[in-house]
Amino acid sequence: MNYARMVIEKEAPEEYGYDRIRFNLSESSIADQRLSDIGFSLPDATLFYGEHRGDSELRHLVAAQASGLSADQVLITAGAAGALFIIATSLLSERDHLIVVRPNYATNIETPRAIGCQISYIDLDFDSGFLIDIEAVSRALRPNTRYISVTCPHNPTGTMMSGADLDALVALAERHGCYLLVDETYRDLSYGAQLPVAASLSPHAISVSSLSKAYGIPGIRIGWLVTRDASLYERFLAAKEQIGICGSVIDELVARRMLEHRTGFLEKVLPDMSHRRDIVQAWIDREPLAEWVRPQGGVVGFARLAVDSNFDLDLFHRRLLDEQGTYVGPGHWFEMSKRYFRIGYGWPTEEELIGGLQGVSTLLREANAGR
Ligand SMILES: Cc1ncc(COP(=O)(O)O)c(C=O)c1O
Repeated sequence: MNYARMVIEKEAPEEYGYDRIRFNLSESSIADQRLSDIGFSLPDATLFYGEHRGDSELRHLVAAQASGLSADQVLITAGAAGALFIIATSLLSERDHLIVVRPNYATNIETPRAIGCQISYIDLDFDSGFLIDIEAVSRALRPNTRYISVTCPHNPTGTMMSGADLDALVALAERHGCYLLVDETYRDLSYGAQLPVAASLSPHAISVSSLSKAYGIPGIRIGWLVTRDASLYERFLAAKEQIGICGSVIDELVARRMLEHRTGFLEKVLPDMSHRRDIVQAWIDREPLAEWVRPQGGVVGFARLAVDSNFDLDLFHRRLLDEQGTYVGPGHWFEMSKRYFRIGYGWPTEEELIGGLQGVSTLLREANAGR
């Protein structure tokens, strides 16, 4: 495995220093929660090795999110990142081929790269509304394609595929005898109808999700994968056992508490996040030098600057942070031009969000005036 650090992680706000950022628009989750926010205090728990699959009550709560799933099809992992790592290392070798949609959350691309498999990228295009080209996915299939990797709701664009597109991808995987991996980490932050949990549709679909984004508790490192393919599950479990035997029993307790209160929590979060999306939309509407494809899920959008080729994008991002105190997710985090940047509208307070967007506008005016 040829590991290389991912730029999105190297430049993550927690690595840069939260105290050095005034308006943090670089995050992809809702605000971080405290134990007291979720009404939880730690009990005097026994710190044994937990169930290797993950606490069975917790797995029941995850399985209950879709009809037709059972707890023994759910594997609790160290965040969605842990699930993606297990899937890539279990399914891919240098001889195998992967189809992955780009841009994407880096782990969906970097672990396969570290393995050294062949990769076909399906690049999303701003001017096509970041829609997945299903025909292009179909054309990219090879005899040694092991899986097709998509994220929905998508990071960094916040766009969603339709139910018909999801069905078409499932059908492609079934016909081809490969898997469809759907990273559903933002699924609980869908503003319209949620797509089904992909794994509930077919044994050829694998779902991944976590509590990091919609629930704002990334520090407990709880995610999961779901598969109805029993032998595949066994292989994923073997990988988990070899990485760390089981998860943290404390983390799993907190996760249980959160999912037991899932409905009430999301009932508060979703209207708030939808309102924040409107705040960014209102900014886009009055800012002639920025545009976006309105997100349908998640708490991020991927804006594009309407600037000409002489515009110094490196300087813009440097000054945005140094002078305006605004940190966004620049395009190079996603292997794109810095003309694009991710706006995380769920993590900062409303005031910080507005302040950060104003910082972008102020700098755009100054840069355009040639300062
Ligand atoms: C699409 C997607 N998948 C997975 C992850 C990993 O999140 P975690 O491991 O905290 O669940 C992220 C984090 O940004 C993400 O955006």
